[in-house]
Amino acid sequence: MQEIICRPEIHHFDTFKEFAAELQLGQGDLVVTESFVAEKFQQLFNGADVLIYSDYCQGEPSDEGFMKLAAKAAELGEHGRVIGIGGGSVLDMSKVLSLESYLPVEKLFSKQIPAKKGRKLVLVPTTCGTGSEVTNISIMAFVAKQCKMGLADNALFADMAVLVPELLKDLPFKFFMTSSVDALIHAMESILSPKANEYTKLFGYRALDMILTAYTRIAARGPESRYDLLDDFLIASNFAGLAFGTAGCGTVHAMSYPLGGTFHVPHGEANYAVLKGVMDKYMEGGLEGELLVLCRHIGAILYGEPADAMKDLGDLLGDIMPVKSLSEYGADEAMVAKWAHEVMEGQQRLLANSHRPLEEEDILTIYKNML
Ligand SMILES: [Fe+2]
Repeated sequence: MQEIICRPEIHHFDTFKEFAAELQLGQGDLVVTESFVAEKFQQLFNGADVLIYSDYCQGEPSDEGFMKLAAKAAELGEHGRVIGIGGGSVLDMSKVLSLESYLPVEKLFSKQIPAKKGRKLVLVPTTCGTGSEVTNISIMAFVAKQCKMGLADNALFADMAVLVPELLKDLPFKFFMTSSVDALIHAMESILSPKANEYTKLFGYRALDMILTAYTRIAARGPESRYDLLDDFLIASNFAGLAFGTAGCGTVHAMSYPLGGTFHVPHGEANYAVLKGVMDKYMEGGLEGELLVLCRHIGAILYGEPADAMKDLGDLLGDIMPVKSLSEYGADEAMVAKWAHEVMEGQQRLLANSHRPLEEEDILTIYKNML
């Protein structure tokens, strides 16, 4: 049994300049990135072809956006390397572009055509949440079918995952928080997953320590204090990615999808909106097993009792970024009843990683408690 999957080489550079020099960025490279990166570092691309994600796709990756971006990439000629520099959406799309062939993309995602590696892939996150740089998963929305599909295949692993803390400096505080909360939830859900093992927990608990310790500093000293902690957050996000890449995410991720999809709430924020409800439900079932270990761990960092760990965690997070109720987003009882049913029908892959088995009634109760 494979205990932890860690395929990409992991590299770290303090600055983008060092990264560009070491990789010898230039002709033959296809860079997929965000406009702020392209503007700030354009001289360092050294003749590489650069495509701006938002010119082709708004929000999360869609098949329509991907087709436009892939057509432009093909028009530019052959590329030996695909270099994705951005948030989770840019990294997910870059993974698909690095394959030998990806058309028709719907057949690729439904596994009717095999995923084969075609180009070297380098992934550089500009947020501190996704962990996508070390996972083999890509998510895409299929517009006509009105559904999202995930492709998990080892051909999607990057050759290199590169951490450059300088890239987080321009991340506004709100996005910094929603992405780092996502990393925290990756850590917690991977720890509580039945697929967790000593190796995944090593990375999961270390990510949790680093993020919570850094949050206590931000709570005490204010948002500006994050600039001294960017490296910690970036590494913690990477650790959490390694943990959930093998152990998986669970119910928080499953329950956040309808909220994100219905009201276009960013992924990390949608997870945050249901985190407390899911953890309270787990606590109702008794403080035992890995939940007890997790709560002891959180209690040790926040100087509290294990039984109060989830409340103390909620208070700490709430001090930095108040959580919104589901009704503030526009949800009501009828809507959450529909969501609970959809989650039970469509998210069994994630629900299977719950700390304890949950029925549709439990899911509905969680949603109602968060209204
Ligand atoms: Fe996530």
